[in-house]
Amino acid sequence: MTSTDHTQIADDQIAHAQIDWDEHGNPHSRVFADVYFSTGSGLDETRHVFLTQNELPERFAALPAGGRLVIGETGFGTGLNFLCAWQLFNASAVADARLHFVSVEKYPLTRADLERALNLWPELKEQADQLLDQYVAVHQGFQRWVFEGGRVTLTLLVGDALDMLPQLDGQIDAWFLDGFAPAKNPEMWTPELFAELARLAAPGSTIGTFTSTGWVRRALNAAGFKMKRVPGIGHKWEVLKGRFIGWPEDVPTPPRAKPWFARPTSPDGPRTALVIGAGLAGCATASSLAARGWHVSLLERHGDLAQEASGNPQGVLYLKLSAHGTPLSQLILSGFGHTRRLLERLQRGIDWDDCGVLQLAFDEKEQARQAQLAAAFPEDLLHVLDRADAESRAGVVLNSGGLFYPQGGWVHPPALCRDQASASNIKLLTHNDVIELRRDGALWQAWDGERLLASAPVVVLAGAAEVKRFPASADLPLKRIRGQITRLAATPESRALTTVVCAEGYVAPARGGEHTLGASFAFNSDDLTPNTAEHLGNLELLREISEDLTQRLNATALPAEDLQGRAAFRCTSPDYLPIVGPLADRAAFLETYAVLRKDARQTPDTECPWLAGLYVNSGHGSRGLITAPLSGELIAAWLDDEPLPLPRSVAEACHPNRFALRGLIRGK
Ligand SMILES: Cc1cc2nc3c(=O)[nH]c(=O)nc-3n(C[C@H](O)[C@H](O)[C@H](O)COP(=O)(O)OP(=O)(O)OC[C@H]3O[C@@H](n4cnc5c(N)ncnc54)[C@H](O)[C@@H]3O)c2cc1C
Ligand SMILES: C[S@@+](CC[C@H](N)C(=O)[O-])C[C@H]1O[C@@H](n2cnc3c(N)ncnc32)[C@H](O)[C@@H]1O
Repeated sequence: MTSTDHTQIADDQIAHAQIDWDEHGNPHSRVFADVYFSTGSGLDETRHVFLTQNELPERFAALPAGGRLVIGETGFGTGLNFLCAWQLFNASAVADARLHFVSVEKYPLTRADLERALNLWPELKEQADQLLDQYVAVHQGFQRWVFEGGRVTLTLLVGDALDMLPQLDGQIDAWFLDGFAPAKNPEMWTPELFAELARLAAPGSTIGTFTSTGWVRRALNAAGFKMKRVPGIGHKWEVLKGRFIGWPEDVPTPPRAKPWFARPTSPDGPRTALVIGAGLAGCATASSLAARGWHVSLLERHGDLAQEASGNPQGVLYLKLSAHGTPLSQLILSGFGHTRRLLERLQRGIDWDDCGVLQLAFDEKEQARQAQLAAAFPEDLLHVLDRADAESRAGVVLNSGGLFYPQGGWVHPPALCRDQASASNIKLLTHNDVIELRRDGALWQAWDGERLLASAPVVVLAGAAEVKRFPASADLPLKRIRGQITRLAATPESRALTTVVCAEGYVAPARGGEHTLGASFAFNSDDLTPNTAEHLGNLELLREISEDLTQRLNATALPAEDLQGRAAFRCTSPDYLPIVGPLADRAAFLETYAVLRKDARQTPDTECPWLAGLYVNSGHGSRGLITAPLSGELIAAWLDDEPLPLPRSVAEACHPNRFALRGLIRGK
């Protein structure tokens, strides 16, 4: 057998699978000493054990227009089961049905190993190529993929099954249990894990597994599934199939979500929605809704999309992570993966570039922070470079080494917005300034003074800090922070810059003939006219990054009044997390849950007074490129009652109700 290389990393980090390839080219796990799939009859076995026992041919064929089926799996491995299910779905389900596949994997394969394994199945090439094209930035936590314009979604929970499944909020219609043989990997077959499968099971959920081991069958029965042995295939004499019949009577039912974070009932009526604001947040929301068959009117007050914060020529895909796994850090890692995969379909060098991002260790505090991050995350996400290596990466002389994010880079945000708003069921309505929202029966109406602009049962407010103009969202604690970027013409010498470099500011390699240099922070300014003082401040940020690059750009020789750029408002919340989710009636909320002022541990059993059909996606601060696209998926998941693309705790940390709730608990 030959083995692949693997890097040594700390115990609590997620490592890639260590694979040995046998003489037939089949993958074996070195850690578990087991095969990924039956090498003789892989496809037949997958189809028999997982597709047939879950009755998927019939269930896919029976899905109505707009219907959806959610599959859950323990052990993603090479994705063979996923690809087989996808292929069958395409062959059996009507054109506008959807497949959502949720899987958990502790040791994701490297891209090279995945490609080698999937090359074994030429009949799955159509699906395998799509997975491989987007198999980037597969890091710890919830990672989402969107295929075929949204017909197929994959949510991969990267981490240990027993850590990850409890964080999942969703309902699974069919389970595939595939975590290596129980004797070789008992951790994937425990009563605790089966209780999670039961917690997540939709009514009538089914289950299939290749093992017929007695204790597995009994433990699944005890968890609420009714299991039976059925004839197997190949060298498997018998396999197990089952159905969820209900939570066992002798086990306490799992706690439900608190009412203020529960899922509102989806509005009835036509699947039409208004999204107000066509920046990164609005375009992402429109894209996620359109992918689920919604007809979206995207209302924008300017003459085109991406005219405000999302209109900069270059923004940086920079991950401000924490070594402590905070909700913000989890959101950033999941959001980064999602955005990076979306970018794969745009044009490199024009719309974006994965040139990497180098964060300089400009003082001792930053150096210590970087050392902590390097210990907490794997090398392929970030690693420390000494000054000499940093300079050879960047192509210019620097003041220090730093932390390098090889998968980061820059993005032309308007290109991402345009791509996200391009579906045929999204109608961009420019010069539509929504001044007022009115309720008319089951519909929301968007008015510009006396003009009715559009109406629909669902509205998503995505106008950054302007969402505060509507009474329903006026109390959200959003602040505007003015920022200005400077555009510098590239010179033959400045083209040596090969990666984004950040210190307090950032500078990107040239896009077309220009570098973007950013950015100022002005907290108390309402004026968006670019000014010379902030251009000069940006040049100072450049000098801190590299005196050499400043010279190469001829930057200080330019008359200050000739400097060009643009200014816009960032929109931030007090906890730096975006505000994403359904909106409640604030006054009714404070009244309904007033008891929390006296006793914060109470959970009144009263439904939250939701504003039916009203949602918000805002507060993306300085990192909208990373957080806004995944927030579009989160809005769609709340609205369509789908598995959330983030851990429930992170979705709650982003929930609009968090502020009213905190106010009550603090007695305000
Ligand atoms: C100088 C600067 C540098 C930045 N650098 C980076 C970076 O390097 N990396 C990064 O990830 N992020 C960066 N950001 C942040 C990023 O640009 C934002 O997080 C992101 O653009 C926010 O997108 P949005 O859609 O929420 O807001 P916006 O892009 O501001 O879009 C809101 C839209 O809503 C419209 N609108 C508002 N109200 C209404 C209404 N009532 N009716 C109709 N239309 C309405 C507005 O016209 C606007 O088009 C930077 C921001 C600034 C200002
Ligand atoms: C038999 S393989 C899965 C094969 C896969 N379904 C396919 O289609 O290729 C089992 C997988 O479970 C993963 N695994 C093992 N223990 C795990 C755990 N505790 N949590 C999450 N994944 C685990 C392994 O890394 C491996 O990829």
